[in-house]
Amino acid sequence: MTELKNDNYLRALLKQPVDYTPIWMMRQAGRYLPEYKATRKDAGDFMALCRNTELATEVTLQPLRRFPLDAAILFSDILTIPDAMGLGLYFETGEGPKFERPITCKADVDKIGHPDPEGELQYVMNAVRSIRKALNGDVPLIGFSGSPWTLATYMVEGGSSKAFTKIKKMMFAEPQTLHLLLDKLADSVISYLNAQIAAGAQSVMVFDTWGGVLSPAMYKEFSLQYMHKIVDALTRENEGRKVPVTLFTKNGGMWLESIAATGCDAVGLDWTINIEDAKARVGDKVALQGNMDPSMLYAPKERIEQEVATILAGYGHDNTGHVFNLGHGIHPDVNPEHAGYFIDAVHRLSKPYHQK
Ligand code: CP3
Repeated sequence: MTELKNDNYLRALLKQPVDYTPIWMMRQAGRYLPEYKATRKDAGDFMALCRNTELATEVTLQPLRRFPLDAAILFSDILTIPDAMGLGLYFETGEGPKFERPITCKADVDKIGHPDPEGELQYVMNAVRSIRKALNGDVPLIGFSGSPWTLATYMVEGGSSKAFTKIKKMMFAEPQTLHLLLDKLADSVISYLNAQIAAGAQSVMVFDTWGGVLSPAMYKEFSLQYMHKIVDALTRENEGRKVPVTLFTKNGGMWLESIAATGCDAVGLDWTINIEDAKARVGDKVALQGNMDPSMLYAPKERIEQEVATILAGYGHDNTGHVFNLGHGIHPDVNPEHAGYFIDAVHRLSKPYHQK
């Protein structure tokens, strides 16, 4: 395997010295890039794009051709697992993801199987292998999955949701059914992420987009417990290097200590928490990833620069342990030039924090 030319992202996650604060952006391959929209059109639809090795590789690399990002993220989706479990994923224009056969009861949970990462999900592993090859050691490749709880919200609600009434009804009225589902999902996520690592992912991230809609007790029981099980079972070293694990619960700022206690290497932060406070609470245990509000990219360049400076100063002079990112995915109507300015500002303004 080729040596990594830029390993600042992996080094920061492991709290090893870095040259500057590395940065990547959640949803960095996506609709804010005209070249993404063109490739997606060629592919036909979003899932066809994910299933096409060559085009999935192409869209993964698009943001890296434009910007000096410090990591690539596999182009795929968190909903590949429920799709492979037979729920029938489809995307209705402008309405987000939907399932033809949502989970409604215990019999539905009993029916779902454990997708084979090199079977139904082989298209994802093929994309990982192809992207790794195309990257040629320039930057590390991030693999990812949804958390069991977040996947379950889509599977039980049948798509995106605002109030999560169906899954919360299951959680309170029929908790054993939900636990059965979450346990199956955790096992599937474990083999899916370990297969991504074997295929060449050099770090993995678990997206718990909807953990923050739970009460503290329910979060521990229905989301964190299963992410903990995943962290415990992941391959943590491959190709002679550590494979860092990042957990991201959106709106999970109240629970940083419990997230850090799972044994993950890094915790992702959204913008509702001050990074200085987050670091004081868990900075000795884990690296931190984040945490600029993605809407800040609508602001003029001077304002973006000011916000980058504030976040860097908030994290402070520790030399490492910080991966810059947005607190959630980049919005589709952001001007790519502003994203480029943001990335450059992080590199430029962070250098003084890393002088040896
Ligand atoms: O660049 C990257 O970050 C890698 C690719 C990636 C996608 N989805 C591509 C995608 C990643 C890491 C995801 C994760 C994902 N998918 C999450 C967790 C992160 C988060 O944003 O909270 C969630 C909740 C999903 C589920 C999902 N997929 C939704 C709700 C939607 C529709 C909303 C939307 O943004 O359109 C998707 C579709 C999706 N996944 C798109 C992309 C680029 C847009 C599809 C299109 O081209 O129309």
